[in-house]
Amino acid sequence: MLIGPPGTGKTLTASALAGELGLPLFTIQLDGLITKFMGETASKLRLIFEAIQQSRGVFLFDEFDALGGERTARNDVGEIRRVLNSFLQFLEQDESDGLIVAATNHPQLLDRALFRRFDTVIEYSMPTPDLAEAVMRARLAPLDTLKVDWSRAVGAADGLSHADITRACEHAAKNAILEETTRIETASLVVALDERRVLHGK
Ligand SMILES: Nc1ncnc2c1ncn2[C@@H]1O[C@H](COP(=O)(O)OP(=O)(O)OP(=O)(O)O)[C@@H](O)[C@H]1O
Ligand SMILES: [Mg+2]
Repeated sequence: MLIGPPGTGKTLTASALAGELGLPLFTIQLDGLITKFMGETASKLRLIFEAIQQSRGVFLFDEFDALGGERTARNDVGEIRRVLNSFLQFLEQDESDGLIVAATNHPQLLDRALFRRFDTVIEYSMPTPDLAEAVMRARLAPLDTLKVDWSRAVGAADGLSHADITRACEHAAKNAILEETTRIETASLVVALDERRVLHGK
């Protein structure tokens, strides 16, 4: 079970696991499943678990907090309970060689019983300054970053997730290339990071 704020690498981890294991990644968007098959979610879930027994892979149940119930409309609570109980039961009976991964931004919405069923709970957090710099250096590695003032860039990245930092780097890289240079300037990186922050009202 992977828990933590948006953009900190939960989905990325599931695809990295699949890549490293040489297995296909199957993603089940739980909130979508519940909304789409209201009333028959539990039977759809059974089909999914049957598929899990048959094909080896990494199965990512994303938006897992949809099983939390608290964010659901009152009239759907019964349905969510049923789905949750089915999920626990299917997980208990699971004898596949696959890997079942759940991801959520809202662990507080989840029943304690759920955490116990998973072998490992991994917590993700917003990047430290060192990590923010590492993410930027990695994303901009194909370009010339010799002139970048990393401490200014790290300052501008404060409060942003790994995903936002990555996107800002991509933005700065595109601008550089449009200006027919491979050199990243601190100012343009800082502007791109500021834009991400404004987007989140920070
Ligand atoms: N820890 C990280 N290191 C490097 N890049 C990262 C990291 N986390 C996220 N990214 C970048 O951000 C992108 C989006 O991250 P990802 O989809 O894994 O976030 P998430 O935790 O699943 O977010 P959400 O809760 O919104 O689904 C990744 O594809 C990657 O480019
Ligand atoms: Mg995700």
